[in-house]
Amino acid sequence: MLKKKLFVNGVERTVIVDPEATLAQYVRKQLCLTGTKVGCGKGECGVCTVILNGKVARSCIVKMKNVPDESQVITIEGIGSHENLHPLQLAWMVHGGAQCGFCTPGFIVSAKALLDQNVNPTREEVRDWFQKNRNVCRCTGYIPLVDAVMDAARILRGEIKKEDLWCKLKEGASMLGSKEVRPSALAKVTGTWDFGADLGLKLPENTLHIKLVQATVSHANIISIDTSEAEKMPGVFKVITHKDVPGTNRINGMAFPQNKGDGKERPILNDKKVFQFGDTLAMVLADTPTQAEEAAKLVKVELEELPAYMSAPEAMAEDAIEIHPGTPNIYFETHRIKGEETKPLMESLPYVV
Ligand code: FES
Ligand code: FES
Repeated sequence: MLKKKLFVNGVERTVIVDPEATLAQYVRKQLCLTGTKVGCGKGECGVCTVILNGKVARSCIVKMKNVPDESQVITIEGIGSHENLHPLQLAWMVHGGAQCGFCTPGFIVSAKALLDQNVNPTREEVRDWFQKNRNVCRCTGYIPLVDAVMDAARILRGEIKKEDLWCKLKEGASMLGSKEVRPSALAKVTGTWDFGADLGLKLPENTLHIKLVQATVSHANIISIDTSEAEKMPGVFKVITHKDVPGTNRINGMAFPQNKGDGKERPILNDKKVFQFGDTLAMVLADTPTQAEEAAKLVKVELEELPAYMSAPEAMAEDAIEIHPGTPNIYFETHRIKGEETKPLMESLPYVV
C-alpha cells in the first residue's frame, strides 16, 4: 500500500491506496466521486478526464504510484454544484450537450482546463482541444458542445450573464422547438447522474456482482458453452447461460409491420449464434467484481466463425449469408427520401426536427 497526501477538489485527503490502482479507481471507489466515469479504460475516450496539477489527465491510465505527493486533483464534483453551476455546466444544459450524459463530466472538466488557460478560444481551438484530449461523444454531435464552451467563455469574460443564457418557457407555451432543458441535464452536468457502474459501487454489502462473458468475434455459430471450471471458482454463486432463461429466450422488440422478420430474432442470452462483437454468451455472478471477472475468463466457448460483415453494403451483398437465419439481411425499408429534393417540402412544414 502507498500513503500520500492529495488535495481533491480543494479538500486535503490522506490517501492509502494500492500503487497499481488508477486515479480513476481511487476517486470512484475510495472517495465515491463517481462523476468521473470509466468507459474504455485505455485512455481513448476521455470520460475519465480530471485536472491533475493544472493539466488534463485521463485518470484511467494514471497509476496512483505516479501521482506526485500533494497533487491537486479536480473532478467534475469540484467544478460546480447544483446550487452554483459553473458557466460550462449551465451552457451544457442550455445547448442540450448532455444526451445520455456519459461523456459529459469528462468534456466539462476538459473544457474547464482549456478556459483556465485561454478564456477566449476560437471554435477551432475548442474542437482541437477536444480532439487532442480525446474527448469523444457518441450521441450529441460536437456543434452543441463547442457552442456551450463558446457561451461559457462569454460568461467568464463578463460579456453575458448566466441568466441571459437560461431559457424559460412562457406559461402555456409549447416545448416543441424550444430550448427547454431536459430534466436529467442538471445531474448529468454535475456528475451526480448514476450509470450502471456507479450504482454498482453504491450497493449494499452481500450484493452479487456480474461479469458478462462476451463474444470477441462479430459473427459465428455457437458450438458449446462450458461453464464447469468457472463455477468452481471462489466466490462464484452461479453462471447463467441461455439455458437458464425461462420461455423462448427471445426478445420480441422489433416486430414492426414494415420489418421482414417476426421480431423474435434476438435472443436474450445468445444460444445458437453470435450476431455481433460483444454479444452476451454467459453471465457470472460472484461475491466481488474481481471474483466474477476471474471466473468469467474460465468460461469456455467453442465457436465456428462465420464471415464478419462490417458495413451495411457488405451485409447487403448478394452472396452474404443471412445473419439471422430465416430473416433477410435487408431487414426493413423506410421508404423515406433524403436530399435536396426534400427542401421545398421542409420549408412548407410548420416544424422541422
Ligand atoms: S475511460 Fe479513460 S479514456 Fe476512456
Ligand atoms: S452524450 Fe452520450 S456520449 Fe456524449
